[in-house]
Amino acid sequence: MIAPLRVGIAGLGTVGAEVVRLIEQQGKILSARCGRGIKVVAVTARSKTKKRGVDLRGIRWAKDPMAIAVDPEVDCFVELMGGVGDPALSAIEAALASGKSVVTANKALIARHGLKLAALAEQHGGALNYEAAVAGAIPVVKTLREGLAGTGVDRVYGILNGTCNYILSRMEQEGLSFADCLKDAQRLGYAEANPSFDVDGHDTAQKLAILASLAFGTKVAQSAVYVEGITSIAAADLRAAAELGYRVKLLGVAVRTATGIEQRVHPTMVPRTSSIAQVMGVTNAVTIDGAGISPITLVGPGAGGAATASAVLADIADVARGVRALPFGRPVAKLAATTKAPMERHEGGYYIRLMARDLAGTAARIATRLAEQKISIESIVQRHPDGMIDAVDATKKSSPVPVILITYATSEDAMRRALQAVQSDKVISGRPQVIRIEKN
Ligand SMILES: NC(=O)c1ccc[n+]([C@@H]2O[C@H](COP(=O)([O-])OP(=O)(O)OC[C@H]3O[C@@H](n4cnc5c(N)ncnc54)[C@H](OP(=O)(O)O)[C@@H]3O)[C@@H](O)[C@H]2O)c1
Repeated sequence: MIAPLRVGIAGLGTVGAEVVRLIEQQGKILSARCGRGIKVVAVTARSKTKKRGVDLRGIRWAKDPMAIAVDPEVDCFVELMGGVGDPALSAIEAALASGKSVVTANKALIARHGLKLAALAEQHGGALNYEAAVAGAIPVVKTLREGLAGTGVDRVYGILNGTCNYILSRMEQEGLSFADCLKDAQRLGYAEANPSFDVDGHDTAQKLAILASLAFGTKVAQSAVYVEGITSIAAADLRAAAELGYRVKLLGVAVRTATGIEQRVHPTMVPRTSSIAQVMGVTNAVTIDGAGISPITLVGPGAGGAATASAVLADIADVARGVRALPFGRPVAKLAATTKAPMERHEGGYYIRLMARDLAGTAARIATRLAEQKISIESIVQRHPDGMIDAVDATKKSSPVPVILITYATSEDAMRRALQAVQSDKVISGRPQVIRIEKN
């Protein structure tokens, strides 16, 4: 009989306490699946006296995370404190340097220091597992790294932030403003008091940088991700999207293009019938387009104690079984350099909402400016004050009216030049709203 895996856990908050509880509750299943037991032998957190709703009797309380990281009685160091720097970083480094395996849910740390930590894991023979860092309970790290090891990936994209998806879902379904939905999300605990990390797209960017590395064998580089958040999305955009057969999602997209790997996070119009469009509320989803196979979409809970702990436990189980995948699917030395693909060269369709002035020839002027940039219009509609949309009639007289254009695929550069010209013509008021379209 192999001795149980001795686990030390630093961080006993939402995720850490749930991991302790699950190891206790699922002990028999885990030991049957791993061929050996899993035993929590040491824990630590900031406060020793805080009530955590889990039974810590018989588990050693370590004075700090580093004490667990270097404890010779611990085989696997589980970091669930969070934070991009210390104590998480130095404790993980120390654990890996002493040959231990490490499990973490810390996306910020993996996005920033993942390469350095992966090199340490390689050098000393331990595992560095971080399934819970991306999309919670959805096993997308394993899917890309192991399940699709024999498949060339062309594109990976997903809804990676539950807060943003919750806000966009409610804005669409109830016609509410962004500000009202954000307030509700905060009241329900889905959004932080300072929500900018989520709604400005940075949380999604960290997760996307990790997925892109796994999908394309490139170095994790959050700085290579183009990022736009959802704060400018209006209920009017979601209504128009619905009428045109689309839904708006904050997507993280990593795609192989002729000019390199494009990594971008932005509000995206997706066909209403697509799998990803069906994902509402706080749920996450990831779609992978692989060479020769139909797209694979994984859907599930992206956050919360139980969902995240489920992924942490799967990683611990791999350590217990002796499974050692290279953290990014190949040796760090073999990961290719990552360059930021310039967004001006991005090619795709666009949704453009303009406030057209009530001037003769406005529609014709807009059409001319687009034609000058060789942009073809798939549809152009005008919203009347009563909320109906119709084909544009340039002869109608009214105050500024929203005009909505859907373009065929064009370059971002051409689209921006055309809109610049339309603005200079002074036939619109305010700034145009632009949302990229991801068709298939
Ligand atoms: N919550 C989620 O839904 C979710 C989802 C995916 C990934 N994650 C990731 O999982 C990790 C943990 O998240 P969480 O939500 O569980 O956080 P949390 O509820 O804030 O818990 C953090 C824990 O770490 C402890 N801690 C913080 N600083 C410490 C220090 N300097 N020394 C020792 N202990 C320290 C805290 O101690 P005290 O309790 O004594 O304050 C607490 O127990 C983060 O990396 C997060 O990004 C979380």
